[in-house]
Amino acid sequence: MYKKILVPLDGSEKAAKAALHGAELACKMGSELILFHVAPSLPPYIGGRPNHLGDIQQAIMDEFTKHGHDAIAQVKDDLKAYGLNISSCIAVGQPADEIIKKAKETGCGLIVMGSRGLSEIKGYLMGSVSNRVTRYANCPVLIVR
Ligand SMILES: Nc1ncnc2c1ncn2[C@@H]1O[C@H](COP(=O)(O)OP(=O)(O)OP(=O)(O)O)[C@@H](O)[C@H]1O
Ligand SMILES: [Mg+2]
Repeated sequence: MYKKILVPLDGSEKAAKAALHGAELACKMGSELILFHVAPSLPPYIGGRPNHLGDIQQAIMDEFTKHGHDAIAQVKDDLKAYGLNISSCIAVGQPADEIIKKAKETGCGLIVMGSRGLSEIKGYLMGSVSNRVTRYANCPVLIVR
């Protein structure tokens, strides 16, 4: 059961906690873990010359991607002791849709994610990403508080 588990990461503590939970499950069930980050996409910019805005947009995208790599590297480090088979990837787009797509593409039997993420607004149990993934994913979703 659960040969592959998808763990979406946004760099938040809640997501890192969910990753630990995913690792515990993966240990018990011999699953592979896939750590996944989605960087936001920016509106396309077609500029003239010199293309300052295009350069700035590229710099912003580079920072977003770096943030994703850092979030994944941090969690990989946290999970070292488990000795699991861990792979990772980054996509660009709408986080919930990309998470659902990735789970389908890779044949993950379970998604383990945080209830909230980077923008904890008080009063809501779940953020918009965890909300949407639980509603529309094609596999079971485990939300870690
Ligand atoms: N960009 C992302 N890439 C990968 N996983 C993400 C991303 N954003 C959120 N997640 C996953 O979804 C979980 C819940 O985060 P979510 O974004 O729903 O809450 P929030 O940031 O508190 O609220 P909101 O973003 O709706 O204002 C995170 O713990 C993480 O597992
Ligand atoms: Mg969020």
